[in-house]
Amino acid sequence: MLRLGVNIDHVATLRQARYRGRGHGEPDPVAAALAAEDAGAHGITAHLREDRRHILDADVFRLRQSIRTRLNFEMAVVPEILDVALRLGPHACCLVPEKRTEVTTEGGLDVAGSPGPVRDCTRRLVDAGIEVSLFVDPEPAQLDAAAAAGAQFVELHTGAYAEAWHSKHERNVQLERLVVAARHAHGLGLKVNAGHGLNLQNLPLLHLVPHLVELNIGHSIISRAVLVGLHAAVRDFLAALHGYPG
Ligand code: PXP
Repeated sequence: MLRLGVNIDHVATLRQARYRGRGHGEPDPVAAALAAEDAGAHGITAHLREDRRHILDADVFRLRQSIRTRLNFEMAVVPEILDVALRLGPHACCLVPEKRTEVTTEGGLDVAGSPGPVRDCTRRLVDAGIEVSLFVDPEPAQLDAAAAAGAQFVELHTGAYAEAWHSKHERNVQLERLVVAARHAHGLGLKVNAGHGLNLQNLPLLHLVPHLVELNIGHSIISRAVLVGLHAAVRDFLAALHGYPG
């Protein structure tokens, strides 16, 4: 079974658009997480960014106490956020690159180019009993480096695949990259997640990528929720994952 992790950052984005700095406001990302779980989501993902542009510290601690599934905490490899992660004790941490000027996480973590800090951060988290996933581009060198860093999971960045959707040739090139990367990661003993830019249009073809454990999806679920409600949106995505051959 392919699991669905619902990223609730954009619920907080909406709250912050009106209530930044107020310490209260709607919509509540924790209420959204509980609604997503009620609809069948297998986990909740939240990214505490250094600039606190959407999810806030108080949100992640409330999530940790409230949700019944798994909390996947996305974080940059920086001491301040590592300290939060260790106090929070989520089920999993996904290490991501972070730039203040980006709208969303643009590329994968360059584990191969800068292995030391990633390895040290991974070790601290694993020693604390937290599963670690590294968000990487689907490149063999990055996967080799992720395994060497001691991570149990990688999350394959599907952004290039999603962006290529409207060109059949380029879409197939990017899909093949994901297939090769998933096989390579599996061969290294890594478990394989994927995410970024996924939607109901591009999800069905991802069934061709082997060894996937979980997909993390945010923007498209929250966007659809505006029109059909969060419960229905999560159920639509679960239906699109259904039948994944593994
Ligand atoms: N996975 C990771 C590591 C991410 O950084 C993001 C974006 O926050 C997602 C998945 C979800 O991407 P999207 O919002 O495009 O579904």
